Amino acid sequence: MSVAFELTNTSGRSVKLADAFAEEFVGWLARPADEVDAEYVDGGRLLDLVGSAAALGERARRGDQAAAFTQQYLLGKLYELSMQLPSTPNAEGSVAVQALVRQLEKDTVRDQDSYIDHELISASPESPDEFVSWLKSLIRSHRVFKHPYWHEFMRNEATPADLRHFVLQESSVDARFDDLLALMQVGTDGATKMEIASNYWDEMGNGQPEQVHTVLFQHIIDHFEITDQELKENLSTSALLGGNLAVLVCRYRSFFSEAVGHLAVAEWLAPDRFAQVLHAWRRLDLPPKGIIYHELHIGIDAHHASAWFAHVVKPLAGDPAARRAIARGALWRADSSARYLDGILDESR
Ligand SMILES: [Fe+2]
Ligand SMILES: [Fe+2]
Repeated sequence: MSVAFELTNTSGRSVKLADAFAEEFVGWLARPADEVDAEYVDGGRLLDLVGSAAALGERARRGDQAAAFTQQYLLGKLYELSMQLPSTPNAEGSVAVQALVRQLEKDTVRDQDSYIDHELISASPESPDEFVSWLKSLIRSHRVFKHPYWHEFMRNEATPADLRHFVLQESSVDARFDDLLALMQVGTDGATKMEIASNYWDEMGNGQPEQVHTVLFQHIIDHFEITDQELKENLSTSALLGGNLAVLVCRYRSFFSEAVGHLAVAEWLAPDRFAQVLHAWRRLDLPPKGIIYHELHIGIDAHHASAWFAHVVKPLAGDPAARRAIARGALWRADSSARYLDGILDESR
């Protein structure tokens, strides 16, 4: 049985972590890698650290909410080391960090796989054209497609406070989408690299600094006066998981096909979702500047999705292992997104 405790440390962090080992390790992340390894590797604490993470993962798997939060919070903190430029020395490169990341990732992948019907994804059609249609109908028949959070709640009921909450949680992916694409393209070539490059250039506002998508997303963050502290410390377990899964599939070359499936779902579902956000924004008569990001993506992501299916998914789909991995990544995204939406809908109502 874990004891959840709340604490505010010197960095102003105010979160509930279920395990003392996680609490202690987060405190080490602002120390140089060599110091961390002197304590955990040379100090003989590495096996204990990894064992504690595995035990945490086991509790998370069995439905312990505090453990699930701690697991994803910790993974998110560890990913920050390789996703943000540091202002002071930090633990990036530490052997202990790598060992802990691997354990948290393996447990996360195991849990995402547990939702998937592996026979179903092994039986996808062999023809690339048919595979694309099959993948689309797989997602179309998933409960994430036209989830009531968007089509009922967001469209007709959401208040400005609900929109604020939504933007905060969505920031785990939208606020760094360009870096995810940049990670994904490493090692690709030909039409695939070109498609990622073209998508990336759109993210860069086609060269206009004020049109860069993360800059446009910042307008809605500014509208709601969401602070950096909130962005770092107020994400729910499923929002953290959504952000971590995106990093996980993009940082490993061996998960490239999963990343392709993951991104296909993200781009394909965005236009319909964002149309509901735009409807809510206008219903509430909020200032137009704040909604530019979402309004723009209704068109742009429809284009990104069709180009992605044609230029990235289809060329890969001749290979059975790639087909399974694309469907796996697509379902990781669809399942985690559905659970996230269930949670946010529950909370909001
Ligand atoms: Fe974008
Ligand atoms: Fe896009």
